[in-house]
This record gives sequence, C-alpha cells and structure tokens, in this order.
Amino acid sequence: MAESNVNQLRGHADESDGIQEYDNKLPTWWVGLSIGTVVWGVANFADWHILTPQTLASRYDAEIAAAPAPFDVNTIVVEMTPEAIDAGAAIFAANCVACHQADATGGIGPSLVDNVWIHGSSPEDIRTTVATGVLDKGMPTWLPVLGPDGVAKVSAYVANLTPND
Ligand code: HEC
Repeated sequence: MAESNVNQLRGHADESDGIQEYDNKLPTWWVGLSIGTVVWGVANFADWHILTPQTLASRYDAEIAAAPAPFDVNTIVVEMTPEAIDAGAAIFAANCVACHQADATGGIGPSLVDNVWIHGSSPEDIRTTVATGVLDKGMPTWLPVLGPDGVAKVSAYVANLTPND
C-alpha cells in the first residue's frame, strides 16, 4: 500500500497489455467495512457453533415449539340465546348478505333456510363452516374477521333460521 494518498502510478505495462494502475491508499470506510465483516464472521461462527450450538433445523424446531398452538374452532361455544341470535342478525346483515341474500335464501352462496346442508346443520357444524370457510368454493374464512364471539353469534343466527334436521 502506498505511504500517502498521492497517486503513484505503478507500471505493469511491460508485463502485460499496456494497462497501468494507480496504487492508492484504500479508503478508511472500505478498510473498516472489510475488517468489520471478518469480526462479524468470527463472532457469528462462535455464536452458532460454540456459545449456543444450533443449526437452521434446530432453530426452526425451537420457533415451532414456541409458537402458540393453532386456534381450535371446537372451543367456540354457540349459545342459542335470543341475545346471541339478535347480535348474529346484525353480523349477518353486515357480512353475509352479499352472497347469501338478506333473507338467506342464497345467491352466490347456498340457501341457509332450506333443509339442504352441504356441511351439516347443527349449530356446531355451522360454526365450523363459518369459522374456517370453504375457500375453494368461495366461502371466506370468518374467524379472523369476526373473532370467536362473532362467529358464535352469527352461527346462532343461521342455526336459528331453519330447524335442524
Ligand atoms: C363471498 C361470498 C360469501 C360470503 C360473503 C359468505 N358466504 Fe357463506 N358460503 C359461500 C359459498 C360459495 C358457500 C358454499 C360452500 C360450499 O359449496 O362448500 C357458502 C356456504 C356457507 C355455509 C354452509 C352451507 C351448507 O349448506 O352447509 C354457511 C353456514 C355459510 N356459508 C354462512 C355464512 C355466514 C354466516 C357468512 C357471513 C359471516 C357467510 N356465509 C358469508 C359464500 C359466501
């Protein structure tokens, strides 16, 4: 490396193809970055292999173990009380009529007032259909939108529309 930052022409012209180059002092930021990557590399190696031995697979397993268990829709209890059914009617009017019609006789989605059920007619069956949806048929997943309480209430409303078989 040159002693100063003054450009010094270093000749290679005689060795190769006439190309000449300056031998300038490397910029401080560049040297710092270069040394920094080596320091980081050593520290990272020590962290992964010596201090807390781990692999990508073990980190994945630890993250999966730490993640909360998936929500179980079976824990949503559908109470067929007048209050729940009333609240469910408002939720139905706000979210469901575009596909099932205001009177629930069906449109894009099937009728919810006849005795024909694809996924079961009990309040629990309806809760599961509403909570998880039937995505490949165009029925959205409502649990993330309505929450467990909203799913329970709108399911009570739908279950109340027609007597269970
Ligand atoms: C974007 C349109 C759309 C919206 C909005 C929608 N649904 Fe559906 N729904 C469907 C379709 C399509 C099906 C038929 C699914 C199938 O064929 O399996 C369905 C099926 C259902 C079923 C099952 C019917 C059966 O026969 O088993 C229930 C219950 C239901 N929807 C309730 C609701 C409720 C409650 C809401 C509002 C929170 C809602 N849906 C909003 C499209 C929709």
